[in-house]
Amino acid sequence: MTIPHTFIQELIARADVVEIVGRYVQLKKGGANFMGLCPFHSEKSPSFSVSPTKQFYHCFGCGKNGDAVRFLMDHVGMTFVEAVQDLAQQYGMQVPEDEASPQDRARAAEQKQKQTTLTDVLEKACLAYKKHLKESPRAIAYFKGRGLSGEIAKQFDLGYAPEGWRSLASVFPHYDDPLLVESGLVITGEDGEDKRYDRFRDRVMFPIRNVKGECIGFGGRVLGDDKPKYLNSPETPVFSKGRELYGLFEARNALRDAGYALVTEGYMDVVALAQLGFPNAVATLGTACTSDHLQKLFRFTDSVVFSFDGDAAGRRAARKALDGALPMATDVRSCKFLFLPPEHDPDSYIRSFGQDAFARYIAEAIPLSRFLIDSVREGCELHTAEGRAHLASNAKPLWGQLPEGALKRQLLAEIADLVQLSSSELNDVWQGKAISSTRTETKSYKKNSSPYTPGKRYEPKPPPIGSDRQGRRQPASRSDHAARLLLANSSAWNDLSHEEHALLCDLPQPHGALFVWLEIQQHEHGPQTWGNLREGLRDEAFEGLALKLMSGLEASPPPEPIDPDATPGREALNELKALLNLMLIDQLKQQETEALAAAATDPEALERYRAINRRRLELMATKVT
Ligand code: UTP
Ligand code: MN
Repeated sequence: MTIPHTFIQELIARADVVEIVGRYVQLKKGGANFMGLCPFHSEKSPSFSVSPTKQFYHCFGCGKNGDAVRFLMDHVGMTFVEAVQDLAQQYGMQVPEDEASPQDRARAAEQKQKQTTLTDVLEKACLAYKKHLKESPRAIAYFKGRGLSGEIAKQFDLGYAPEGWRSLASVFPHYDDPLLVESGLVITGEDGEDKRYDRFRDRVMFPIRNVKGECIGFGGRVLGDDKPKYLNSPETPVFSKGRELYGLFEARNALRDAGYALVTEGYMDVVALAQLGFPNAVATLGTACTSDHLQKLFRFTDSVVFSFDGDAAGRRAARKALDGALPMATDVRSCKFLFLPPEHDPDSYIRSFGQDAFARYIAEAIPLSRFLIDSVREGCELHTAEGRAHLASNAKPLWGQLPEGALKRQLLAEIADLVQLSSSELNDVWQGKAISSTRTETKSYKKNSSPYTPGKRYEPKPPPIGSDRQGRRQPASRSDHAARLLLANSSAWNDLSHEEHALLCDLPQPHGALFVWLEIQQHEHGPQTWGNLREGLRDEAFEGLALKLMSGLEASPPPEPIDPDATPGREALNELKALLNLMLIDQLKQQETEALAAAATDPEALERYRAINRRRLELMATKVT
């Protein structure tokens, strides 16, 4: 729907920004302008100014500014069209809809009217349920038993739908009114009026509000263990589960103060979290979090943390949320995922372990980029070309959903790195481009072939660190590279940490065996030149590997004479350390994925995951290159 620009100008001229803003913010006259506490950031003294002459608001604290339409969009969360329609209605103007026929317009007006009527009906029911709660000791005891205060119940307008088939008849004398059915409050059987009855009976009630604060539906929970545990309003002209978030209206201001939204899975989570120090929580209504949900949420905050149960169902829900989040993940936004221990939701977790423990989970939530990588590498054996190819194919549809930007490019590089291709090669693969030429590679392969094992085919020499992101990297090149550096500078072995020794010795064969052998050599004979080492290699299973790796170096004399007692060249050691750092990080990433997968059945695996994750972050912080 396009609204002519002239109409908007006229509307803004007619609407009074002081009046509009004044409905949401307490304003005091100060000189020519009005001042108040800024609704866009938290502050103690007013720096939010509204100018009646300029018809403009401006915050000197956070810089937010705009006109009446902007205010309704940014503060109230309306879309542009909603804001314009809202203002037009208040100021008695008719929004021209260029192509709309009179019939269309009439229908739109009728629909709008219907929606207002429906939300009025629902609000009336909400008030009735609230009143019933006050009169039901059983329902009050239920909420008290779940640790809720009267104050929080009031804030969320919690209520109770009494037992009995037609309780609502006391509030709606015309129980036959089709509006009651349309609003989802009353269910009607196919065959007649006498089959009408209340949808919600003997349930505690959670009213669901849209961003304007209008009641659009309910969730009702049984007080005991009956099924279904929750009953929700059906889809109606004012309520759509796939778009609405429970608690968003109530959390609006907290979202700005906290700087992020916590997306949970349950009504109780939202209410309990609000009471326990996290008023910035919202919940999807028993559905996966979709892009529509997020679009709504991102009107209020740039940062979202999803909370999931640490079991298999939670991981499935997280995967769906990832799908919803990818198209929305622009560079200015942040989406993170946190996994609670199995059998816990935020409500139960925080009641068992406290606010601080929960805050730590939030602080350690996994960024979308990491979760994407974890998801696509799941089940891929990265030490085989097939496994890496599988990863590439898993990653393609997810990566493709990301909006253009720096995040998308970095992820391309990271995925390319994992599958041992350059970014542009991976892009070519995804676009189905054929390999253009292999000439240069053939040449370098000849130059590098060794005289010692004739007839055997060799891979080209691995490129040095730093050039490998753009260049082609051969499988196992990091292991090759480390072996070559250590064979040429064997005393460097003593400069490595226990963690690095273990990494090398545990590598798949033949590399692992070569490093074990190197350690023994070092232990028994001290540092040796490559010439000496070569003698000892005869008939070892990894002799071929060592000779192949060193063949390039042998052809030309070493740049410096190797002194067996000298400390290894600074440069070689730095190169080795940087390489091992990358290898360790990769290894830990792999272990994180495994631990997370195991966490579904093993509660200790989550602890393990966190320890591994912590170590990896440390290593990333000390990254040498
Ligand atoms: P949970 O079963 O995790 O509920 O369902 P919960 O919020 O932790 O419930 P409590 O703590 O036992 O009260 C999560 C969400 O899934 C939807 C509801 O939106 C619920 O909040 N749901 C669940 C239903 O719609 N129907 C159901 O029968 C169960
Ligand atoms: Mn729960």
